Formats: sequence, C-alpha cells, structure tokens
Amino acid sequence: MTKPVAEQTDLSRRTLVTAGLGLAAASSIAAAPGRATAARKTLPNGFWWGTATAAHQIEGNNTNSDFWLAENVKPTLFQEPSLDACDSYHRYGEDIALAAKLGFNAHRFGVEWARIEPEPGKFSAAALDHYQRVMEACHAKGLAPVITFSHWTVPRWFAAMGGFEHPDSPALFARFAERATAKLGPLMSAASTFNEANIARLIQARPESKLIGPAVRAMLAACAKASGSDRFASVLFADLAKSEANQVAAHEQAFQAIKAGPGNFPVGVTISMQDVQGVGEGHRATEIEDQIYGPWIAQAAKADFVGVQTYTRIRVDANGIMPPPKGAELTAAGYEFYPEALGATIRYAARKTGRPIYVTENGIGTDDDTRRIAYIDRAVASMRACIDDGIDVRGYLHWSLLDNYEWVFGYKQRFGLVAVDLKTFKRTPKPSALHLGAMARSSRRLGK
Ligand code: BGC
Repeated sequence: MTKPVAEQTDLSRRTLVTAGLGLAAASSIAAAPGRATAARKTLPNGFWWGTATAAHQIEGNNTNSDFWLAENVKPTLFQEPSLDACDSYHRYGEDIALAAKLGFNAHRFGVEWARIEPEPGKFSAAALDHYQRVMEACHAKGLAPVITFSHWTVPRWFAAMGGFEHPDSPALFARFAERATAKLGPLMSAASTFNEANIARLIQARPESKLIGPAVRAMLAACAKASGSDRFASVLFADLAKSEANQVAAHEQAFQAIKAGPGNFPVGVTISMQDVQGVGEGHRATEIEDQIYGPWIAQAAKADFVGVQTYTRIRVDANGIMPPPKGAELTAAGYEFYPEALGATIRYAARKTGRPIYVTENGIGTDDDTRRIAYIDRAVASMRACIDDGIDVRGYLHWSLLDNYEWVFGYKQRFGLVAVDLKTFKRTPKPSALHLGAMARSSRRLGK
C-alpha cells in the first residue's frame, strides 16, 4: 500500500533539508574574525548588489512544467502545490521597482523553458515578449538582468521523454537557449545555463537520501502515467548514471549557443556549494567535495564565471558527513546557521576554477528577520575578506527577494527579504530588505 502523503512529505522534508536543499543563518557561534573597515579594499567598479529569484518559485501557474505536474499527482513529495506562487508573472513590474527602490543594481531571475517552448519545437512569441518586457523593466530601473536558463524546471513534454536521460536532450536544451538568446540576448547582463547543476549530486551524497528513493519513484511513476509515458525524469531527482553526461553536454552546447549571441555578456553555470570541513584524522572531506561537485567544477573553469550558491557548511569525518555540532543554531530549514561558509566557498571556487565569481545565491530560511540581518552581515564580511585578498568577486545576489515557493517544502520556509501575502499578493519589505539595500547604496555612494 502507498504510504500516506503526510508521512512521505515528512520524510522528504527531513531528507532534503539535511541534504542541503533548503540550505542557510547567525547565532551562538562566535562571529568570524572580520576585517577592519579601514583595511578594506574598494569593491570592483559596478559591483552588483541584488537579489536572486527563480521563475517557478515566484511566477505562478507554471502549468506546463514538470514540477507543476509532480506537485499535483498522487502520491507527491510536495507539501503543497505552487499554484499562484507570488504572481510575479503579472507583478514583475512591482517586484523590479521594489528591488530598485531598495537600492539594488542587479536582479537574477529565470526565463521559463516550459512557457517559451510549450510543445517540442513550438516557441511562444508571447512568452518571449513577456521576458523582453521583464528585462526592459529591469534596465529602466537600473537593474542588470542576470538570467537563469533552467532553474530545475523543464517542460512537461521534455520530462516525459526522459529529460536529460534522453540522447537528444543536449540538442533540445541548446535549441531552447538559442531561441531565447536570439530574442533576449541583447538585454541580458549575465546568464547561467543551469541553476545548481550539481543539485542531484548534493542530495544523493547524503546517506538519508536513500530513504526517499521509493517516494520519489512513486511520484515520478505517477507523473509518467499522467503523461501517457513510460518515463518521467526530473533534474532534482535525477538518475545521474543515466543523465549527468547528457546534462554536461547540454550545458556545453547551450553555452556555445548563448555565446553566439546576439548580446555580449558573461555566461556561466551556478553551483550549489557547501563549505566542506574535514574533522579529525582520516576525514573524507576531499572525497565528499568530489562527490558533490562531480564534473561541474571543471565545467565552471571553462565558463566566463562561476555562480557560487552557498547556505551552510558540512563537516566530514572519517565516517562521512556529520550532523551539525551539538548546540549549534539551526535555521528553519534544519541546517546549521553558518554564514562564513560563503567566504570559504568563494575561496574554494576561485582556487579550483580560476574564474571570476558572482555570488548568485546566499541566504537563510527563517521567520526571525533579525537572524537574517545577522546572517547577511557575517556572510558579506566573509565575502569582502575574499575581495580584500584579491579574489575576483563581482556581485552579491541574495536569495531571495520574496518569500516564495520553496519546492517540496511549500510556502512555509521563508527566504525572502520581502514578505508576500499569498491571498492579496501584497509585498511588505522586512527590515533585512532595508538593511541589505542600505549596504548596497552606501557601498556605491562611497565607492567601497
Ligand atoms: C535553490 C533555490 C532554493 C534555495 C533555498 C537553492 O538551492 O537554487 O531554488 O529556493 O536554495 O533553499
């Protein structure tokens, strides 16, 4: 008999949280040694301060995507469906104006493949026009559009043919990238092919991930059945043995397609990073790093930049990944509040790839906004220390502008600088929004 949904979602929640999917926050841990402001070097000219979002998590009614189906089949791992999300598909103008008013100069968001190519080879001019309007609105408000071509979601038809398990998948993803770039490239300031290309590796590195295996398989089987297919593959719950080589090829081909223009902007890939700390003799930190990053560090090393996305650390001893230390502050997402992971992962990414770095995500799931402010201060201090040491960091995009749809956890985990009423869609900036905005403004005004 199938397990009750509540039981499955509880399992998925625990597992995915510990797997680092929720990821990030300040505490009883002593502040890391900061640097005196006077000793700080100037931030690079045009340093980007802003926020990051994802199409599926804010737009609403992404009905043609694989996630929409997975959220609505039975059984499902999702605690609730995304439905209207933040209705940003219609309210993007308000969001962009708010981000600009807060003091930001860059805005990361996704162009949704499922909307742009609703049927294989059929492209929606209206969807492309929509994203053109969004990008134009960014420019009008002084925000650099930082684009994600795929933030985990794919069109339902693509998932039903096997997603990145299908040998045609690299060419299909590259074709989408080419069509979107043809229309939107001139308006892009930077772009990444995949969001957290290594996410399935990160989840699977956790021993607990085995626990959700049967529930994932049941959900995907229900999706396949609803699609009249014998398969349904998701980026998040990928079978890496079957899909990773194709996803790498998809990145490489899409990278070339985007670089071919029009437009002239850096193209990279973003990676979900953990500050992997070895503990004790014989610790397996290097092995775990190799396991969670796989081929993606080498891919980033060939791109124009690496997008660092960091929320916390993991400690690894001789037996593998350890639980958070006793007494450590945990975020609402269940992982350790450890803002200094940002600086550590920037150093790791710089060392391993030698590429310029944008922090494309960093944040904390919490209902206590004072902890968000503390997190931001310590994370940004750790980033600035990297810049002081000569590391080429070009922007900090906080996750996220809005409280949004946090995937399997639904709307109960809140990462936003701005609260959203899910009935009226009213946006209310939290003190942390003003705090980060003021930081952005003052760093620009003072040229530091
Ligand atoms: C993802 C976001 C997610 C955030 C917080 C990142 O791994 O890119 O989509 O909402 O973490 O969990």
